[in-house]
Amino acid sequence: PDSLRVALLGCGVVGTQVARILTTDADDLAARVGAPLQLAGIAVRNLEAERDASIDPAWLTTDAEALVDGADVVVELMGGIEPARTLILRALAKGAAVVTANKALLAQHGPTLFEAADAAGADLYFEAAVAGAIPIVRPVRESLAGDRVRRVLGIVNGTTNYVLDRMATEGLDLDQVVKEAQALGYAEADPTADVEGYDAAAKAAILASLAFHTRVSLDDVDREGITGISAEDVDWARRQGYVIKLLAVAERYDDGPDAPGVQVRVHPALVPEAHPLAGVRGAFNAVFVEAEAAGELMFYGRGAGGVPTASAVLGDVVSVARHRVLGGKGPVESSYAALPVLPATAA
Ligand code: HSE
Repeated sequence: PDSLRVALLGCGVVGTQVARILTTDADDLAARVGAPLQLAGIAVRNLEAERDASIDPAWLTTDAEALVDGADVVVELMGGIEPARTLILRALAKGAAVVTANKALLAQHGPTLFEAADAAGADLYFEAAVAGAIPIVRPVRESLAGDRVRRVLGIVNGTTNYVLDRMATEGLDLDQVVKEAQALGYAEADPTADVEGYDAAAKAAILASLAFHTRVSLDDVDREGITGISAEDVDWARRQGYVIKLLAVAERYDDGPDAPGVQVRVHPALVPEAHPLAGVRGAFNAVFVEAEAAGELMFYGRGAGGVPTASAVLGDVVSVARHRVLGGKGPVESSYAALPVLPATAA
């Protein structure tokens, strides 16, 4: 093709950086894809909102449907369930490839979206939905597809990790530090999603679905956030030789060949100071994967923030755009076997 039209839905912390890099690095991206990527426009709710100087107002539109209909690649960075869900389904039905960072949507409606993508023969990529810049979706979805994952253990919310870290080093209160995390662009639009563990639970559901080839939804995840943690708790833990971390844990249970299952949970945990996860500071994330043949793997990097997350989004854009140029598509999700998901139990 002469060029591929890329539509952006949403112009927040991540969307702004994706638009900037798409335009400033256009030559490099075109060389990697084999065709130029043309920013077709950015759908926003409010044309008048204050935006970064890198955003040309001429790119903006409130007509998301028209933008989607004219696109080869749709990049959904608006967050939330609607209208993101309807727009993604519309894009897939038209045969466009979709890249999304929307963990809440994937954790609640993943199967519907994957079936729509497979039915249309279109790509649906979502590396940025879990752990920001860290390549973790592709490794679990593709590189480990021939192995048997036993457990996934991770720090997958940058805001809460930043907050717990600042509480430990500065003795600050939770509320004070959450405001800092918002100002730094780490927190969700509603930081309740971070501090109550919903964001981590959505990511845990996505990782567990990929790692165990099953369908784990947000409702299957046992969840406890960090609002019950005080500066005193953090200090007490430190004096005992522990660091308090919000952990996402997804485990395979094999109670004999007739009773396999998967259990997924998110909760604050006491991590021994000597453990590598204890050293994950600030808004960084880390994911441990324990697999039968591969053994222990650790993925580490920036889990939040516009620029790092844009890296993962653009990697997906290059991948799906390459598939378009070469005439193929990536992995199929709807053929997943149904490994039972054990019910979430109160902690
Ligand atoms: N609010 C999220 C976090 C952003 O703090 O990790 C990345 O998903």
